[in-house]
Amino acid sequence: MLQSLEPLPADPILGLSAAARADDNPDKVDLTVGIYMDDAGVCPVFKAVQLAQKALEAEEVTKAYLPPAGDEQFNRCMQHLVLGVGSPALGAGRVCSIQTPGGCGALRIGAEVIFAAAPDARVWISDPTWPVHIPLVGSVGLGFETYRYYNVADHGVDFEGMVADLRHARAGDVVLLHGCCHNPSGADLTLEQWEVVAGMAEAQGFTPFVDIAYQGLGDGLDEDAAGVRLLVERLPEVVIAASCSKNLGLYRERTGAAIFVCQDAANAQTVLNQAKAAARRVYSMPPAHGALLAGRVLGDTGLDALWREELEQMCARINGLRSDLRAALEKASGRDFAFIEKEKGMFSFLGLAPAQAQRLRAEFSVYMLDSSRINVAGVNAGNIDYLAQCVAKVL
Ligand code: LMR
Repeated sequence: MLQSLEPLPADPILGLSAAARADDNPDKVDLTVGIYMDDAGVCPVFKAVQLAQKALEAEEVTKAYLPPAGDEQFNRCMQHLVLGVGSPALGAGRVCSIQTPGGCGALRIGAEVIFAAAPDARVWISDPTWPVHIPLVGSVGLGFETYRYYNVADHGVDFEGMVADLRHARAGDVVLLHGCCHNPSGADLTLEQWEVVAGMAEAQGFTPFVDIAYQGLGDGLDEDAAGVRLLVERLPEVVIAASCSKNLGLYRERTGAAIFVCQDAANAQTVLNQAKAAARRVYSMPPAHGALLAGRVLGDTGLDALWREELEQMCARINGLRSDLRAALEKASGRDFAFIEKEKGMFSFLGLAPAQAQRLRAEFSVYMLDSSRINVAGVNAGNIDYLAQCVAKVL
């Protein structure tokens, strides 16, 4: 039976990351996977998380299963983090959520619940989007449509194109939006543009499905959630996939949350039961460790303050790297790279052709995606000049 399987191409992100790891060129630069790295090229553990881990280790008495909805403290803290403590939707009891294995798990559970409610729903995804959105949501059985999002010529959001395409989304459809720090482009909607999207959802009846994997990596925790909070304020239903991979550095702990804002409290209870049933059939119960750490950090005033400070420093460093990279690329190439400074989060499209990105890998051991998406957080004082010179050579 297994003999009938066809070989698959490598994953567009993880395959390149593996190729970078295997490259023994001491000058190699790995800008593939979206992982924060410090100036020494290390993905650090937050101090607040380390402290939570010590406390947890001292207290932990069991490794028994969590329930399918996960840890209650974690779920409460994540609702507060994403929606804001004073969210009227929370006050009205019309929000439910479950802890999931990472943001991917949240996307999958969100899609499972959507499919259970509306198997014919079409999911509108941005062009471009994170490539894994398609198999994660599509393997549930939902169909796709794309909407224009990015204007290559001016390195910004093609809002006119987006609105024109989303005019065709109808009641019962789902529009997948990046809450902040758009992956792969780094080009985000303004608050005015979120207002327009909310108005369209109201008028046309589609449901927003917001992936907010990078909250806190753009302008700040509350600022980055402003778009999704605006939708929640105005609309009866919003589905949200949140992640603690980047903002709490819990990548390998697979810690995320699927949050459902529902029409009323009774429906929230039904949706919660559907989400738990979906978890049960896909993976049964979520892993505990990361959620227990996150819940402890977010639920403890001292640890929460320390974490916020660390996250702000991380964010400031990424923004500093954006300025340094712009300067280095402009100096090496004589071209305009001002757009890098305007984008948010970890990613930027450098605007190279796939052949140029491939040449960078083959000739210079500089690894970025074929789309020329780079992980800005992989740039450091030791590789920035080499990177800029190599990019200038292929331009
Ligand atoms: C990325 O886009 O590089 C990250 O979200 C990691 C991943 O799973 O692809």
